Amino acid sequence: MILFSFALSSNAFAQQDVKGDAEKGATKVSLCVGCHAIPGYRSSVPEIYTVPMIGGQSASYIVSALSAYKKGERKHPTMRGIAGSLSDQDMADIAVYYSSQNSDTKPNKLK
Ligand code: HEC
Repeated sequence: MILFSFALSSNAFAQQDVKGDAEKGATKVSLCVGCHAIPGYRSSVPEIYTVPMIGGQSASYIVSALSAYKKGERKHPTMRGIAGSLSDQDMADIAVYYSSQNSDTKPNKLK
């Protein structure tokens, strides 16, 4: 019910109905794990970046963030380059995959 009210009250992001395939997503995140390592949050480049944890984020949040990088609304150069290489379907698959993760559980907890 909380999610439902959120969807009604927030316009841009919550409208997205993310239709991704977590299994396909799992094959597409090899690019991401060096920085957004799963499980938990371990960056291979901690001295340069603070990398946000994306495991367990909602799929619609991840898709909006990736689209924002792709469109240039978010400016981070690395993420812009990466998001620019993803199709909408890639983003959806990756988003569903990451949203199925928990920061405090083991990887591959898909089923
Ligand atoms: C070279 C390191 C690096 C790689 C590789 C990388 N990211 Fe990122 N990512 C970052 C950093 C640093 C940020 C924070 C950027 C900012 O401040 O806007 C970020 C931000 C994000 C965000 C926004 C998170 C938030 O809380 O707003 C998402 C979603 C994301 N990345 C997804 C991905 C996905 C999916 C991939 C693989 C396709 C990927 N990233 C690959 C470093 C990386």
